[in-house]
Amino acid sequence: MAAERYRIMMFPWLAFGHMIPFLALSKKLAAKGISISYISTPKNLQRLPPIPSDLEDKLKLLEIPLPSVDGLPENCEATIDLQEEQIQYLKKAYDKLSKPFENLLKKIMPDMILIDFAPYWIPEIAAKFDIPTAYFSVYTAATLAYTGPVEELKTGKRRPSPEYYTRAPDWIPFPSLVSHRPDFVPIVMKSTHSPDSSGISMAQRMAKVVENCSFLAVRSCKEFEGEYINLIQQLHEKPVLPIGVLHTVPEEKTIKTETDSFKWLGEQKPKSVVFVGFGSEYKMPIEQIHELAFALELCKLPFLWILRKPEGVDSSDVLPPGFEDRTRSQGVVILGWAPQVDILAHTAIGGCLFHAGWGTIVEALGFGHPLILLSMVADQGLNAKLLVEKELGYEVPRNKDGSFSREMVAESIRRVVVEPEGEKFRSKAAQMRSNFDNKESQNNYINKFIEHMEKYLKKTKQV
Ligand SMILES: *[C@@H]1O[C@H](CO)[C@@H](O)[C@H](O)[C@H]1NC(C)=O
Repeated sequence: MAAERYRIMMFPWLAFGHMIPFLALSKKLAAKGISISYISTPKNLQRLPPIPSDLEDKLKLLEIPLPSVDGLPENCEATIDLQEEQIQYLKKAYDKLSKPFENLLKKIMPDMILIDFAPYWIPEIAAKFDIPTAYFSVYTAATLAYTGPVEELKTGKRRPSPEYYTRAPDWIPFPSLVSHRPDFVPIVMKSTHSPDSSGISMAQRMAKVVENCSFLAVRSCKEFEGEYINLIQQLHEKPVLPIGVLHTVPEEKTIKTETDSFKWLGEQKPKSVVFVGFGSEYKMPIEQIHELAFALELCKLPFLWILRKPEGVDSSDVLPPGFEDRTRSQGVVILGWAPQVDILAHTAIGGCLFHAGWGTIVEALGFGHPLILLSMVADQGLNAKLLVEKELGYEVPRNKDGSFSREMVAESIRRVVVEPEGEKFRSKAAQMRSNFDNKESQNNYINKFIEHMEKYLKKTKQV
């Protein structure tokens, strides 16, 4: 296979929502004969799922130790280990990886480096050795479109006040709902455009990565958001290659069907259970947990809730008093980790109430579930609006201050899962499944990516 000649280095940001898709793409490329060196810090590599034995030759995990910096607690190497305000110190430590990264680069001398938005210092290092970089976006094309062209990332000039952030920007030339919730705008403006203690803002990082990359790869497909993929190609004046949504269907034999929650799921009617999950990254305050609990009681539908236990709260106080007794015959709460994709694959699931993180969207739509959207942080609000635009889900209405009530959540769940007015969400989600789990068309994106990379490398090596 021609691809065997090529070697790629992968360098994701230190968040599992980034490391996991980088690993998924690494596996797909390794399976096509491309040699992958996947770089991260020791504790993160240990926490990744194991590499399938048939890919071990082609896909190597290489560690570089994370330097310590003031403000970063010991043994914390990923955003999941930290409070929101500590993440800037992780960025600071990450930036100190530039020298060890350069040393590793010299040893490996890959044909190309696939990088995240964060390591803005890589293009300069790569240029010394004549190695091209490409930006791999774990965000949707719609999110990249919203964040804007390089000039806007650098200056923020075209959005001088908060109101601009609550509507689609004027460089999106078609009708679009992609924008942030008003209550979230102050947080977004600060986290995007203000330098943190690492000395640089998120938008500045992304600007440098994007302006110096040879092309962009996006975890997405044309069937889902082709218009946004085309648009970012125009905005950045560079090739943008969708690499597919990276949906993985669990193998029947690996699903632990003997556990209590799977036994319970097995007793429920098809498409009847509301899946509830807000990921392991978001630290949900206890007040929100209680409001959601009351919402689930109110909606009267069977539910399965994967709940991250908040730090400093006793297990017995996580749920409202009496909740478990009152809902014993209605639903199941799993406190801690659970195999989310195995649960979403179950035929009893009829809808998904979640934070609108892109990884979970892929899993939910990959099994055709209609979505009840309650975005919390980061790009989730933009994803939620995109899904509303596509009629794949319904966004829980919020109060002006951003709070939500049990009634609003319960009504939204019922609308999407059972009420007649939610039929459009159910049918559109079922249709989208046929794109997300279409092996042939998704595989084609990987082939096209490799083709493009080969052509690009041949061209640059001739010059
Ligand atoms: C990155 O791009 C900018 C703008 O095109 C250019 O001035 C700079 O030299 C580039 N840096 C590298 C390392 O390629």
